[in-house]
Amino acid sequence: MKKLVVTGALFFICGCASRLYLPAAPNVQKARQADPGITLEQLQAARKLYAIKCSSCHNLHLPREFTSAQWPGILDKMQPKAKITDEQKKLLLAYLTSE
Ligand code: HEC
Repeated sequence: MKKLVVTGALFFICGCASRLYLPAAPNVQKARQADPGITLEQLQAARKLYAIKCSSCHNLHLPREFTSAQWPGILDKMQPKAKITDEQKKLLLAYLTSE
């Protein structure tokens, strides 16, 4: 019983971030159309960065809620709020537009 409660609590805490897709080979291929040098490790790091930097003011928006044409403008607007570097913004963009 106790175990169930703990599992439930964990699921609640991680619920949002766990709905974010886990990057795999097809996502890397997609990301490489815009950024030919990007690696799987970078996309995985971008997923973490997204969960850490972009969840403090509002729930995380899922990548597919916006199009590849919309994300750049949103990231420009959110960059000063999230205090991320240009390099981090580029990584986030790759992750958010490669599902
Ligand atoms: C300091 C608080 C804060 C942080 C950190 C933050 N946001 Fe936001 N975000 C907002 C607010 C406030 C809005 C509401 C609309 C607005 O201000 O434009 C918003 C709205 C949004 C929207 C809705 C679309 C839109 O244009 O309104 C998206 C998507 C979004 N944020 C993505 C992000 C991403 C990606 C990050 C991380 C890089 C991030 N946010 C970090 C405050 C924040």
